[in-house]
Amino acid sequence: MTLERQSIDALREGLDALDRGFAALPAATPPALDARAREVLLEAAQRLRDNYPYFHPLYAGQMLKPPHPLARAAAALADWVNPNNHALDGGRASSRMEKEAVAQIAAMFGWQAHLGHLTSGGTMANLEALWIAGRTKPGKRVAASRQAHYTHSRISAVLGIEFVAIDCDRNGRMDMASLERELARGDIGTVVATMGTTATGSVDPLPRILALAGEHGIRVHADAAYGGYFTLASNLAQEARAAFDRLRDADSIVIDPHKHGLQPYGCGCVVFRDPAVGQFYKHDSPYTYFSSAELHLGEISLECSRPGAAAVALWATQRLLPLERGGEFARMLGSCREAALALYAHIAADKRFVTAFAPELDIVVWAPRAATVSQASSLSRALFDETAKQGLHLAVAELPIAFFDLAGAGMKPDRETITCLRSVLMKPEHREWVDRIAALVDSSAAKVLA
Ligand SMILES: Cc1ncc(COP(=O)(O)O)c(C=O)c1O
Repeated sequence: MTLERQSIDALREGLDALDRGFAALPAATPPALDARAREVLLEAAQRLRDNYPYFHPLYAGQMLKPPHPLARAAAALADWVNPNNHALDGGRASSRMEKEAVAQIAAMFGWQAHLGHLTSGGTMANLEALWIAGRTKPGKRVAASRQAHYTHSRISAVLGIEFVAIDCDRNGRMDMASLERELARGDIGTVVATMGTTATGSVDPLPRILALAGEHGIRVHADAAYGGYFTLASNLAQEARAAFDRLRDADSIVIDPHKHGLQPYGCGCVVFRDPAVGQFYKHDSPYTYFSSAELHLGEISLECSRPGAAAVALWATQRLLPLERGGEFARMLGSCREAALALYAHIAADKRFVTAFAPELDIVVWAPRAATVSQASSLSRALFDETAKQGLHLAVAELPIAFFDLAGAGMKPDRETITCLRSVLMKPEHREWVDRIAALVDSSAAKVLA
């Protein structure tokens, strides 16, 4: 049996406890899950088999991590009540749980005072951060690196804010000389620092970005959607550590509990250092907000209805695994980085491959060595197919050739980008599985690169 089931028993117990809280209600019959409904559920299960095994350690491709069984059970438990965290009228307990969970996230970054809430994901969270950035710096441009998530240029377009992409250095981090050149024009209002790029997990040099921001009076938004939780890890290299230690000085931070925070999809988070940005959200609602003078989360969120279940799952997970340095959750992140370093060392020692820089977080990229970049790119695709046939699921990415030591590998740069293999080792179990993963890369390479 591959899929976890203990959470079903725990959920049953949780439901009994929840039910007792509503014992005074007169009986009302809910719609039955009859034979036809069960048949449909089995049909859905059949359909869902058409997926890569995202929950298994041999899925080491895209950013996909299974939720903690507790998060899954807590979300399901909440769905029996189906609270809506827009207003306290719709989700009293779950709104309070959201405020507590978000305060713990803010505290992880060193903030006591803050304003923040959960969102449907990193895109919506970044949209709110850039919306506030635009309101505080009207008419000014937003800058992010070329390796920043594509969402920043799209969001800027949606918000009607001009966007500029800043070049990256050979490590996939924002290039400071290029940023300084753009800043000299005097019309940048906000710089987005990516704390773990999507493709390679590179961490922008936040201390230097903050220094420039101070000189130029600009706002700094940290997109830590992917990398944010690594602030708890004890095994980061010096530059990444220094960058995470300055997150407290950013104006806003986005982190995605549905990436490294063990949550089911539908859980992003935006936090602002200055609670006064709440003024920009100010609006009245003719339908809600009357039930209490306590803050309704809809008053500080652009989304209206939001799942209380996401807050309940996050709250439960953080209660079990507090966001503490040296704690169990922090050790899980450390294991992911160890796994990535181990896979990187294995591949870098193999003359059949060319690697990029060492992973800053837990993402490894590499390509087969070949006479030209074009040939290496097609071999990457062939290797991707072969590893999948052998049961190992990787991803492919298109990256600037400057990230790879092509000269050292004697490869002709006949293209500006290279199609390479990418492995996101974001499950703590990957540390135990990395030798097996490396062996499958080897056996696939033996077939494709023979
Ligand atoms: C750095 C970064 N920012 C933003 C996003 C967008 O987040 P979401 O897919 O949750 O909308 C991602 C997604 O991978 C990301 O890696």
